Amino acid sequence: MAFRAYLVERNDDGSVNRSLTTLEPEQLHDGEVTIKVEWSSVNYKDALATIPNGGVARVSPLVPGVDLAGTVVASTDPGISTGEPVIAHAYDLGVSHHGGFAELARVPASWVVPMPDGLTARDAMAIGTAGYTSALSIERLESRGLQPGDGPVLVTGATGGVGSTAVAMLAARGYEVVGSTGKHEEHAYLRELGAAGVLDRSETVADSGRALERERWAAAVDCVGGATLAYVLRTLRYGAAVAASGNTGGRELHTTVFPFILRGVDLIGIDSVNTPIDRRRAVWRRLATDLRPPHLEDSIAREVALDDVGAVLDDIRDGRVRGRVVVRVGDGGG
Ligand SMILES: NC(=O)c1ccc[n+]([C@@H]2O[C@H](COP(=O)([O-])OP(=O)(O)OC[C@H]3O[C@@H](n4cnc5c(N)ncnc54)[C@H](OP(=O)(O)O)[C@@H]3O)[C@@H](O)[C@H]2O)c1
Repeated sequence: MAFRAYLVERNDDGSVNRSLTTLEPEQLHDGEVTIKVEWSSVNYKDALATIPNGGVARVSPLVPGVDLAGTVVASTDPGISTGEPVIAHAYDLGVSHHGGFAELARVPASWVVPMPDGLTARDAMAIGTAGYTSALSIERLESRGLQPGDGPVLVTGATGGVGSTAVAMLAARGYEVVGSTGKHEEHAYLRELGAAGVLDRSETVADSGRALERERWAAAVDCVGGATLAYVLRTLRYGAAVAASGNTGGRELHTTVFPFILRGVDLIGIDSVNTPIDRRRAVWRRLATDLRPPHLEDSIAREVALDDVGAVLDDIRDGRVRGRVVVRVGDGGG
């Protein structure tokens, strides 16, 4: 049966058409599991997938949406049953495989995460790839030895999807969190999430002729990259680490070797896209329990219908969104 989908098509001249349209199930890409999508979410990567030269979309036409949650309506995989609530995100979803901004999705069984007990489809999308990436960042820092009481942990891009969930998760685990943000009007929001302090973005992007600065941070979660990541490296304490996941502030990194060879700091790369599925399922079980972001409902900045996704994509591309945006697809459901 035909279903509604938000579709992006690249034209020969490089421009992009975005529209809400109708697709037939046969137009979906291959996969063992067909899912009635109930909720999705909007990430920075989705914004890049829908603009010319965004560098994310690998096929045209494409249903974007790197996150989805819903109910299995057909499955040829013996491990996944019809009626099962599930999550799928990342891998090629919304990049070279039709994603979450549609009422129906079909994905390989090896991308499917059973919905952990205690999470609804809406909860899972309030967390989404952003919260999953924060969880991976925290897991890596803690497995390296970070613990509450070690000192201030800096979260950059703190009002965004990855940043805001990292602030909330770290604060709930007892860390002293400092959020850096370019949004002057959102300092109170960061404190509500649990930040003990707020740093203005101007400080983290300022030019510095120095290879090292005062040691401040016991660890950092950075989703901004560019000059901000260079600042983090210059200011981490001796032996500390930064978990780096993003590039909203630029893809280039101009730094020196001194943070590494004089302070023994570590730069940990975080990739949420190709995590092996068993690890992904385990992290989602933690996202439903000890890493569950507190105040999940409050972390939702906006709830939009499929019809309104286009406007949100522009806002998130321009850095105008704080927190998470969830998309009610179809009738929403669980
Ligand atoms: N490695 C992975 O697996 C992975 C997974 C998910 C996301 N990501 C990446 O992580 C980044 C954040 O994703 P998201 O979904 O959280 O995006 P988002 O919701 O748009 O948040 C990004 C935040 O970055 C800050 N920012 C924006 N433009 C900036 C600039 N020019 N300079 C400095 N800071 C700027 C803003 O925070 P403030 O206004 O508070 O400063 C913004 O809210 C993106 O680059 C995304 O592609 C990577």
